[in-house]
Parts: sequence; structure tokens; C-alpha cells
Amino acid sequence: MHRFFVQKFFLASTAARRDNHTDPLNMQVIDLDPILLSNLKGKTAVVTGAAGGIGAEIVRLFSKHGVNVVLADLEYGRLVAEGIIALLTEQSKALFVPANTLDWTQMKHRFKESIGTFSRLDIVVTNAGLMESKPTLDIETLDDNGELHEATEASKAINVNVKGL
Ligand SMILES: NC(=O)c1ccc[n+]([C@@H]2O[C@H](COP(=O)([O-])OP(=O)(O)OC[C@H]3O[C@@H](n4cnc5c(N)ncnc54)[C@H](O)[C@@H]3O)[C@@H](O)[C@H]2O)c1
Repeated sequence: MHRFFVQKFFLASTAARRDNHTDPLNMQVIDLDPILLSNLKGKTAVVTGAAGGIGAEIVRLFSKHGVNVVLADLEYGRLVAEGIIALLTEQSKALFVPANTLDWTQMKHRFKESIGTFSRLDIVVTNAGLMESKPTLDIETLDDNGELHEATEASKAINVNVKGL
């Protein structure tokens, strides 16, 4: 049922995209279905990567529509996440939890904590991710000894973006 709800949310976003327009910075502006947004009230959502750009925007949008939001991000994002919460109108309905999406045990605990705090969990937005600064298949870079360099950054991006919850 939860999965259906998330899917419904994205289907509506896609439908709204048909009537989209651009702002002066040439960014795409998406008008979300107001009926769908009004149905969010009272639900609880976990947003991973919530201390960053898109995740933080999702938090603000959900909170504005009465959703209890759990901001899950790496510990180093705590101050930023707390700053995001401080600017929400419904601060008591938002919670930061330090969480690394690659750590299954930690994530299970965080989900239990979220349900314990808000008595329910309806939506999970698996937004946490990394953009690699080097080409993903950078397999020809040599290290100081002239040996092929392991593409560690690409591996990390693949782990977080594909395997992370
Ligand atoms: N911004 C874009 O143009 C764009 C384009 C395509 C895809 N995306 C994807 O959308 C998502 C959000 O993008 P953004 O631009 O807001 O990114 P961002 O870098 O601003 O935020 C990502 C957040 O994820 C967190 N994060 C990273 N690894 C994590 C982990 N292991 N556990 C928990 N949190 C972790 C970071 O701390 C950060 O707060 C990402 O998955 C990104 O790959 C973004």
C-alpha cells in the first residue's frame, strides 16, 4: 500500500509535468496536483539525503502539507538538517536522524525510531545520492607508481546510488 502511494505521487508529478514551464533561470517548474498534496496531511515520510538540495525541498514541501517528516542524512549533515527544521512552521513534526543508507542495520533502527515517534510510516523517499566528479568508468588513470588507479569514487557513487536504501 505504501509503495502504491509513492507511485501515485510520482505519477501525478509526471502528469503535472505536461503543463510545465520554465523560470528565468531556465529551471523546470512542476505544478503538483493540489488534491494529491492535500491527501498527504497526517502521513509520515522518511526522506534520505534530506540535508541536501532536492531532499531538503521535499522536506519543505511535505511539511507544508502536514506530513511528519524524518530527515535522514549522514551525521555531518546534522547542523544543516536542524537548520532546515528550524525554518519549518511545524517544527515539532520534523526529526533529524543520523543515518548512512549503506548501513542496513542502522537504517532498520532508524525506521523503527521513526515509527516509534510518529506511530506510522507511509512514505519513503530514497533520495540520498552522490554525483561523481570523475568519469564513472575512469579505468585508465594511473597512480604515482604508474599502476592502474582503482576507480574508488565511482564505486562509492554506485554503492550509494544503486545499493543505498
Ligand atoms: N541535482 C541534480 O541535478 C540531480 C540530477 C540527477 C540525479 N540527482 C540525484 O538526486 C538526488 C539528490 O540530489 P541533490 O542534488 O539534492 O544532491 P545533494 O548532494 O545536494 O544532496 C544529497 C544528500 O545525500 C546525502 N547522502 C549522501 N550519501 C549518503 C548516505 N550514504 N547516507 C545518507 N545520506 C547520504 C548527502 O549528505 C546530501 O545531503 C541524488 O540521489 C542525486 O544523485 C540529482
